[in-house]
Amino acid sequence: MNARSLTPVLLFLSISSLLPSSSQNPNPKNYPRSSRRFAEALIRDLNLIPGIQEIDGQIPENDQRNPRLVEKKLNLDILGDIGSGISIQELGHHAGYYSLNHTHAARMFYFFFESRGSSSDPLVLWLTGGPGCSSELALFYENGPFTIADNLSLVWNDYGWDKASNIIYVDQPTGTGFSYSKDLRDLRFNEKGVSNDLYDFLQAFFEAHPKFLKNEFYITGESYAGHYIPAVAERVHRGNKGKEGLKINLKGFAIGNGLTNPSIQYGAYADFAYSMGLIGEAAHDKISKIYPICELGIKLCGSSGVITCAASYVLCNSIFTSILLLAGNINYYDIRKKCEGELCYDFSNMDKFLNQKDVRAALGVSDRKFVSCSPLVYEVMITDWMKNLEVGIPALIEDGIKLLIYAGEYDLICNWLGNFRWVDSMEWSGHQVYSETPMLPFIVDGEEAGQLKTYGPLSFLKVYNAGHMVPMDQPKVALDMLKRWTKGSLSEEDNVGLVSVI
Ligand SMILES: *[C@@H]1O[C@H](CO)[C@@H](O)[C@H](O)[C@H]1NC(C)=O
Ligand SMILES: *[C@@H]1O[C@H](CO)[C@@H](O)[C@H](O)[C@H]1NC(C)=O
Repeated sequence: MNARSLTPVLLFLSISSLLPSSSQNPNPKNYPRSSRRFAEALIRDLNLIPGIQEIDGQIPENDQRNPRLVEKKLNLDILGDIGSGISIQELGHHAGYYSLNHTHAARMFYFFFESRGSSSDPLVLWLTGGPGCSSELALFYENGPFTIADNLSLVWNDYGWDKASNIIYVDQPTGTGFSYSKDLRDLRFNEKGVSNDLYDFLQAFFEAHPKFLKNEFYITGESYAGHYIPAVAERVHRGNKGKEGLKINLKGFAIGNGLTNPSIQYGAYADFAYSMGLIGEAAHDKISKIYPICELGIKLCGSSGVITCAASYVLCNSIFTSILLLAGNINYYDIRKKCEGELCYDFSNMDKFLNQKDVRAALGVSDRKFVSCSPLVYEVMITDWMKNLEVGIPALIEDGIKLLIYAGEYDLICNWLGNFRWVDSMEWSGHQVYSETPMLPFIVDGEEAGQLKTYGPLSFLKVYNAGHMVPMDQPKVALDMLKRWTKGSLSEEDNVGLVSVI
């Protein structure tokens, strides 16, 4: 199992790449042993090839004479019904590169889609996890404006989040997707680096699109973005309070099947697997005996550890691998399914689509290699994995910034139970009332689509019939969730028709 095979979203366990040898999981990536070839492999993974020289000649690099943000308007052919009064000509679809401040040579790639609803809809930032997986996975397979048909045509997505928001998909950290650098020092290995880069990107984005400064702003994403999102929310809030740059109208952040509090979430694996019938009672008890040392490792990792963090990553993930060994060939993002394909799902149409010459020309990515999930980015973030990102959240929600944690019920890797537990035990002024609040049915179109627990700025939603990628499995429910949450009416069914007909 190598990092590449791990995931679209939350890569898991590249334990084999950390240990000297692993007979059980041969590492197909096989970094060569000689240091020169090792360095070459690293550079290849950092998305530096092919044709870096030619590209340097074509695209403006960090250069005072050139704007740091280079954006192109997209005119992609999209089939089907746009589902809106706005015509495709009026609709702003963009792709761009931002030459990151505070880096040596990093360029961050993003898509920006204006809303099919109204330009006053909220502005939403989406971050896919990994670490090291491209946000294009979500764009094309979850909540983007369009999906890719088998013949590689684009087709409007009836439930794209651009129906209720202006939405940005960013490839980050550097080395992910189409984002790259020619300097290894631009790699990010913790949330401080990640959140500073995203803050700089947002500042540049708003400089280029000042009319969106007044819109409500929400940070969303999935999986390992359970680390990124609280860090970026905290960074934006701090920038606002310190009057550092343009004031960003941050109203909330939402995490789907995320990894946020590893100590609690690793403690939930065995219970979840047992409750879902993946393992028996004896196995549950045996696996639970590994947990105390994992918990201790995470504690030692704390907020400033390094070696202890890598060690606890290996230790704690043995809980997860033990479950997988017993559960057989399950898709650990959706235990109802088998793990088929490199990423447990078949996302090959995305690579085919993005490798077409005319698409590359339209996106302005030239012959830059597209890295759907970067093993290098993943590996340098290993010591970030066990950090507890819950710690900064209470201060944000006390200041009235909303938080939604949602989780598809059939995901194992970032399962709903672990998420439910950390949200429930989080200390903040509303802790007592929140924890006593019952789970109530979440109704969409008259049907129970999940269970919701909400009090004040804090909400938890368990989504039925969904795995790790909720907007892929339950597109309509996910869009309804976004609309209702941003409007502040998550618990009220969006059923205006019924009321006004009387
Ligand atoms: C490609 O697939 C889409 C969706 O299935 C279909 O509408 C379209 O006609 C197809 N295009 C071609 C050229 O076959
Ligand atoms: C980034 O650099 C540009 C100059 O190239 C400067 O105008 C801008 O203020 C910088 N932004 C930040 C966030 O530092």
